[in-house]
Amino acid sequence: LQLWGWQRDWAGLRLLVTAGPTREPLDPARFLTNPSSGLMGVLLAQAARLRGAEVTLVHGPLTVDSQLLEGLACVPVQTAADMERALVRLQPCADAIAMAAAVADHRRQQPLPHKLTKEELSVELASGWQPVPDLLAGLVSRRHPGQRILGFAAQSGDVLAQARAKWARKGCDLLFANPIDQADAGFGVNSNHGWLLGGQGGEQRIEPGSKLAIAQQLLTALRP
Ligand code: CTP
Ligand code: CA
Repeated sequence: LQLWGWQRDWAGLRLLVTAGPTREPLDPARFLTNPSSGLMGVLLAQAARLRGAEVTLVHGPLTVDSQLLEGLACVPVQTAADMERALVRLQPCADAIAMAAAVADHRRQQPLPHKLTKEELSVELASGWQPVPDLLAGLVSRRHPGQRILGFAAQSGDVLAQARAKWARKGCDLLFANPIDQADAGFGVNSNHGWLLGGQGGEQRIEPGSKLAIAQQLLTALRP
């Protein structure tokens, strides 16, 4: 495993990590979310803790083994708005931030107090949603000098081309992009691979490996 043999090279550094999906309620019976399990962010948080970092994990509803959270300072949230409030509060005391959460892209302005019928739902889905603000862009705009920020990108198709455009748009120091249309990477599996943009050497291919092994490589690149 990749848990031992590491220096405590993050000792004295504070890392803020987000993980998992957000959940955006529509009515008392329904919500919008995505297939993120939270595993990549949780393993990143644990690996950083074992390398000596003081870690805070802000996470949406996770579907990983709860034992993986052992020893972590956790801030559980549901919606993107909850996550944004937590980030605004916690960002000032972080030396680095890893934004692994799969934030929902749309939400209802106000969740409905009553349940829609399925006929009403068809109308609602066509009109009642608004975009969620980009939390990563908010982090980048509020960043303090020296604070390092890692973004993530889940892509289908040409991962590298889309990652280049996304990294340029987002303004974070580093962006790790992984495919979600292959069996050995992305949502809900233990392995991953992809591209890291913005590290030493610009574009680095991250070869297939466990999410834990990849977390270790990302931490090495992210360390302030
Ligand atoms: N992100 C965010 N807030 C959002 C959407 C995304 O902070 N409302 C962050 C994610 O946590 C991730 C990065 O932005 O670190 C990229 O997320 P992704 O979903 O790949 O990018 P989007 O900008 O939402 O673009 P799209 O879904 O259209 O590919
Ligand atoms: Ca998105």
